[in-house]
Amino acid sequence: MTALKRVGVVGCGLMGSGIVQVSAAAGIDTIVREVDQPTLDKGLGRIKKFLEDGVAKGKVTAEDKDKTLAHIRGTTKLEDLAPCELIVEAAIENIAAKREVFGTLDKITKPDQVLASNTSSLSITEIAASTSHPERVLGLHFFNPVPLMKLVEIIRALPTNDAAFDRAKGYVEQIGKTAVICKDTPGFVVNRLLVPYLLDAVRLLESGLATREDIDNGMKLGCGYPMGPLTLLDFVGLDTTYYIANIMYDEFRQPHFAPPPLLKRMVLAGYMGRKSGRGFYEYAKS
Ligand code: CAA
Ligand code: NAD
Repeated sequence: MTALKRVGVVGCGLMGSGIVQVSAAAGIDTIVREVDQPTLDKGLGRIKKFLEDGVAKGKVTAEDKDKTLAHIRGTTKLEDLAPCELIVEAAIENIAAKREVFGTLDKITKPDQVLASNTSSLSITEIAASTSHPERVLGLHFFNPVPLMKLVEIIRALPTNDAAFDRAKGYVEQIGKTAVICKDTPGFVVNRLLVPYLLDAVRLLESGLATREDIDNGMKLGCGYPMGPLTLLDFVGLDTTYYIANIMYDEFRQPHFAPPPLLKRMVLAGYMGRKSGRGFYEYAKS
């Protein structure tokens, strides 16, 4: 498999910024599109801070930090992603927004360029249907925080062809991640198991069964999880989890995928977790 030279990323939020960072760190010229300059600057700032923290921790050399940053370019124009061999979309978890992005990417790229979505739960087949060449569309599902989590799920939709799949698999290897291959079902492997667990933790809190700290410590100290479920929800983003739960519930119609009322109300109140400064816990605003 020939190594990729140019990759595009749509969205420079929690996930997009991580995908940009790991691509650039692998020596790939990476261009990222955000909706406006302040949001782009915030996303690029997140990458810079992660690399600087890495240097301070002795995990990244100053030279590698500079090399990685030199491979990154930001833009607010989707058209600037046109020359990329692979484009990974990491915008909001909403089918209309994703279909709009893929519809435009379809027009500005050629059929041999591969289009991937980082969706957590939406149907890759439905996203692919917004393009005229659905055979080059697939899912590349990264995990948060992208620079530290080793897994990428590769989702093959019904129309995905071998050329697109092979390029995506080669890319995952190029950036030093491990792939798990999954069919196009809501939540794929990891979220199918993880999301009902996270939603049940909210239900426990909602029912007054235990405090947030005791729920989190229970799973951390009792099961050896690196984070308790409520801390992890704050980390993932309550809005993103709420969208994912609704999408999975819509598809499966099983109660354990339904978002608990407390989660919905916290999202309505603007408590999105770490990124907004408040979720199940309080944080200094980033
Ligand atoms: N640069 C380089 N390395 C860094 C770094 C940086 N800026 N920051 C941390 N690291 C390294 C540390 O040095 C450390 O390395 P060693 O293990 O070699 O010592 C390692 O990363 C862990 O860092 P910390 O010790 O600072 O932090 P931690 O031990 O508290 O772990 C964590 C942080 C990895 C995030 C851990 O808490 C964790 O795994 N949490 C769970 C995350 C998770 O479940 N993610 C999946 C979410 S679901 C999802 O993503 C899918 C979806 O669709 C919603
Ligand atoms: P986020 O809210 O942090 O970032 C989304 C970013 O996309 C925002 O900065 C927004 O301005 C930008 N955006 C929206 N529309 C855009 C467009 N048309 N062009 C360019 N940028 C656009 O969300 P996130 O957590 O990074 O999630 C992004 C995607 O990744 C979602 O599909 C989500 O389900 C998935 N995902 C999230 C996680 C997680 O833990 N948060 C993990 C894996 C996958």
